[in-house]
Amino acid sequence: MSAATDASATLARYRAVRREVEQAVLPLATSIDGRRFSFQASLHGLALQLGGYVILEGEGGARLGQVLDLHEAVAEVGSLRSGSADDGALESRLRLRVAEGAGVVLDGPPAPFHDALARPAITDEVRVWLERTAPHRARLAIGGLALERGVPFALDAGGFDRHTFLCGQSGSGKTYALGVLLEQLLLKTGLRIVVLDPNSDFVRLARPRDDVAPAQAEAWRRRAEGVVVRAADAPEQARLGLRFSELSAPSQAALLRLDPVADRAEYAELAEAMRARPRTPEDLAAKAGELSGDLRLRIANLGVSDLGVWAREEAGSVLEDLDDPRIRCLVIDLGSLPTLVEQRLVAEAVLAALWNGRARRRPVLVVIDEAHNVCPASPEDALSARATDHTMRIAAEGRKFGLYLLLSTQRPQKVPDNVVSQCDNLVLLRLNNAADAAYAREIFSFAPASLVGLASTFRQGQALIGGKLASHPALVTFGARVSEEGGGDVPADWARAGS
Ligand SMILES: Nc1ncnc2c1ncn2[C@@H]1O[C@H](COP(=O)(O)OP(=O)(O)OP(=O)(O)O)[C@@H](O)[C@H]1O
Ligand SMILES: [Mg+2]
Repeated sequence: MSAATDASATLARYRAVRREVEQAVLPLATSIDGRRFSFQASLHGLALQLGGYVILEGEGGARLGQVLDLHEAVAEVGSLRSGSADDGALESRLRLRVAEGAGVVLDGPPAPFHDALARPAITDEVRVWLERTAPHRARLAIGGLALERGVPFALDAGGFDRHTFLCGQSGSGKTYALGVLLEQLLLKTGLRIVVLDPNSDFVRLARPRDDVAPAQAEAWRRRAEGVVVRAADAPEQARLGLRFSELSAPSQAALLRLDPVADRAEYAELAEAMRARPRTPEDLAAKAGELSGDLRLRIANLGVSDLGVWAREEAGSVLEDLDDPRIRCLVIDLGSLPTLVEQRLVAEAVLAALWNGRARRRPVLVVIDEAHNVCPASPEDALSARATDHTMRIAAEGRKFGLYLLLSTQRPQKVPDNVVSQCDNLVLLRLNNAADAAYAREIFSFAPASLVGLASTFRQGQALIGGKLASHPALVTFGARVSEEGGGDVPADWARAGS
């Protein structure tokens, strides 16, 4: 036999032995505190998966666990001899490649264990555990577990007494998921909701979709009677408007780009003129009568009187809606306002009014879609800066007054750090950008970094949900919406073959 044939036979034998030993590695788990465990398993036919559920059968009975780390490792287990002593024996170290991992015990006796046999949980085991341990509060049926087909997953509605951060890249399904959450909150809880809607995505929230069952559609119609949408282009009663006199002095100054020190004469003049409580800047000019040229020119040059947002009739101030107990969910269609100034003005005025009304301690969920536009980390003007300021205050202190935030954005870094870091709930959809993912891993330390790291693999509608909302950091798939999606649909037939 040639040396080459010899070598290849040795290699084949080495591989065969290695495979046999690798396959024989039992999936065994150990825990020294009964809460966290580590395990080793064969890579051949590996059935455990990151974020998935596992049954650990060992001392003290069976436990349910969740895998939070899973990686490949090399284990050296002695050496393999080939050839005879006469031919010159060859020793090769036997390097096994195995799976190693770690996880947490979700259910079972809280005692240490060693060498518990680990196997993937079957769907029913997970379903039964979720049902048995569900809190006695309202449960929000938002979809199912991503890794256990057919197992529904419900959020603990009580978790919305913490701020919630929802993020994912464009198209990951944030607005859709937000719709599912709002539907469930409206159906299952009594929490009041105010939605700042920069893209007009929730203007059809009150309407059931065509494809839902008639009974479900009817139930939604009834529940949605408390949903009020305010839009700039709506008929008089539903029009989105503001009164100049309702704005606080700093808001008026921000709109007029007045600095209380640098522009002290105009600032003081405005304060004096406001004693007449003019509804619009036109009234301001008319009623105050004797405005100085500078202030009049400023109002004219900034086109403030021409803004369409001013409520000229009795009805129509969105700030009054905030206090109207008949309104269960107020959708403020910022996207219907034609200018950026109006959008920023309304967002600022609403956030200011919510903050200034905090002493009433009426629980309200403040939903901000496209939060990077409403409360940006780097505001471009005084109005945005004030909106960001109010959001930061609500984030830091709002909870004790019943002001809860639900923020949605594509890029977490574009919202101020001290807003994001106040969020104790995370709904993370697909996030491909490595820098965004690293930021999310760092700031949401309550969510396992390994699961946050999976965000780049999520399909549309898949998410990691962690925090008080969820019994455990769960990988989920959002279910179907009952209500219509808003916004203008972009036709997708432009790529049709032959067109
Ligand atoms: N879970 C889902 N089931 C069915 N369709 C979905 C789901 N999630 C998203 N979609 C659809 O995918 C499209 C994009 O979703 P969506 O508008 O929610 O993305 P987004 O993350 O809000 O994007 P952007 O940041 O650009 O606003 C929509 O047409 C929506 O209907
Ligand atoms: Mg969106």
